[in-house]
Amino acid sequence: MLTSTRSRVHELTIASLVIDGWVVITIPLRQIGFVAFVVATSAAVFVACGDDDAPRSIASTVADDDATSSSAATPTTVFEDLDMTDDDFVNINAMTKVKGYFIDNRLGHLDEAIAVAENPDGGTFPVGTIIQLVPQEAMVKRSPGWNPATNDWEFFFLDVTADGTTIATRGAEDTVNRFGGNCASCHAAAEPQYDFICEDDHGCEPLPIGDDVIASIQAADPRPMP
Ligand code: HEC
Repeated sequence: MLTSTRSRVHELTIASLVIDGWVVITIPLRQIGFVAFVVATSAAVFVACGDDDAPRSIASTVADDDATSSSAATPTTVFEDLDMTDDDFVNINAMTKVKGYFIDNRLGHLDEAIAVAENPDGGTFPVGTIIQLVPQEAMVKRSPGWNPATNDWEFFFLDVTADGTTIATRGAEDTVNRFGGNCASCHAAAEPQYDFICEDDHGCEPLPIGDDVIASIQAADPRPMP
């Protein structure tokens, strides 16, 4: 079954398309695009849409409403993303150690992430990469375009105990470390080919602690090993 009905609500035109008992409502938001909803039954929607217009074909509705739209079935692009929660963080010693830091990727791109980390010419880390130098700080690669100013890195300051992890602060450009230093500003100083990774010699201001202190903080991660 393929029918449609329409009504004017606050300058939006609602067209409902009934296919085999499912109702797909597309709302052409002028200048913006289409937002589509799917609801399970048709009766309530026909009531909600009113009966001021007789049902018409979807083709003529689209043609009337927006002559520039070619189809109501606008394709949707889905980006991968990694939105971390407390329990997603683990003891850093359960991650893969590369150079002086620990790396993981929760979206299946670990090999690619390690290859970038080990490449002397640098590169861009894949979405879903988690990098930690110490248990209390992490940077996580979000979806493309999440925050261009930080190359889509989200920075975290974490509380870690034997019970696990609590995210203390998170964000792109505002997160600071225990010394009050802004993560993004420091890491943005890395030469561009290194994608915000500082290491010892990528151009960042050095940390106020030496490699020996970093090693003992790494070894003292209080969280249980999985
Ligand atoms: C004073 C500048 C500075 C600040 C502020 C800073 N970092 Fe770093 N970070 C560094 C340097 C330098 C290194 C490399 C240290 C080393 O390898 O010995 C580093 C290393 C790291 C690493 C390992 C990968 C790498 O870049 O070498 C991560 C992950 C990291 N920092 C996250 C953070 C997070 C998260 C914050 C904020 C909570 C933060 N950093 C704040 C300078 C800074």
